[in-house]
Amino acid sequence: MEARETPPGLRTCGPIWTRPCRQGPATCEVVDGLAPTTRPGADVPRGHAQATARPTRVLLGDGGLAAEVLEYGGSVSSAYRAVTGHYLDDARPWQVDVEASSPDLYVLPVTAAVGAPGLRRELVHAWAGTQYTTIIAPSAYVASSASLAGGCIVAPHSVVSSFVRLGRHVVVNPASTIGHGTDIGDYVTISPGVHVAGRCVLGHGVFLGIGAVVSSGVSVGSGTILGAGAVLLTDAEPDSVYLGIPARRVRASEDWLRVI
Ligand SMILES: CC(C)(COP(=O)(O)OP(=O)(O)OC[C@H]1O[C@@H](n2cnc3c(N)ncnc32)[C@H](O)[C@@H]1OP(=O)(O)O)[C@@H](O)C(=O)NCCC(=O)NCCS
Repeated sequence: MEARETPPGLRTCGPIWTRPCRQGPATCEVVDGLAPTTRPGADVPRGHAQATARPTRVLLGDGGLAAEVLEYGGSVSSAYRAVTGHYLDDARPWQVDVEASSPDLYVLPVTAAVGAPGLRRELVHAWAGTQYTTIIAPSAYVASSASLAGGCIVAPHSVVSSFVRLGRHVVVNPASTIGHGTDIGDYVTISPGVHVAGRCVLGHGVFLGIGAVVSSGVSVGSGTILGAGAVLLTDAEPDSVYLGIPARRVRASEDWLRVI
């Protein structure tokens, strides 16, 4: 494959491009008033004892999205994956406990790689570190005027257009497009093949299902789910599920954002 030139302002890290947050320092504080915590005892994470090479990054999560990110980032064998105790699996020596890790892990670049917005937020709150890195796949296009907060993922063949703003821990899945001037809150998930037109506003924790479309200038309230294939033509209320073409509100989103 032909080598690509690193875009201005980015530094290379193998095939992954990482960039500091353009809205401030390269770090991102723990959100919603949860202060970083220091955990006494500096437990030795399980992965320390078992990994053959010292990992160079941490992903929060060890499911499908984490696997994808590591594949297109080319760092499958060099990342710890932090999970809650319930999901720790002896057969997966790269795992560390998200609540019992050691301070020397916190200096590594960390990205939350879980698709469900609510679960992603829970993992970020459980992690004691505060440094988050945005990962942009080499085949993604991110306009130079776009601003990305810490901890975002922009997957292959997706487009983040001019003057788009991504909040913290936003996941833009493959082959999705975000039009110019759109403002996206923290913990939003854009599923594969989604198209968000220009000048839209997506509140915190919004989930757009696979292949959904959001028309120009439309606002989506925080915590709302737009179902797979839906086409949203008018503003959507917060904490709701919208389905169909044109999309209509069918019910409250309740705790769906943890499992979707
Ligand atoms: C919106 C969603 C969360 C609803 O899930 P749910 O509450 O389990 O819904 P159900 O499957 O129980 O279906 C309830 C009703 O809504 C309908 N429905 C569900 N999803 C729909 C959709 N996307 N569009 C139109 N109708 C839909 C069902 O046909 C069913 O209709 P019925 O009551 O007349 O039989 C889910 O369907 C969805 O779209 N998920 C997106 C998944 C996705 O994009 N994942 C991306 C992974 S990267």
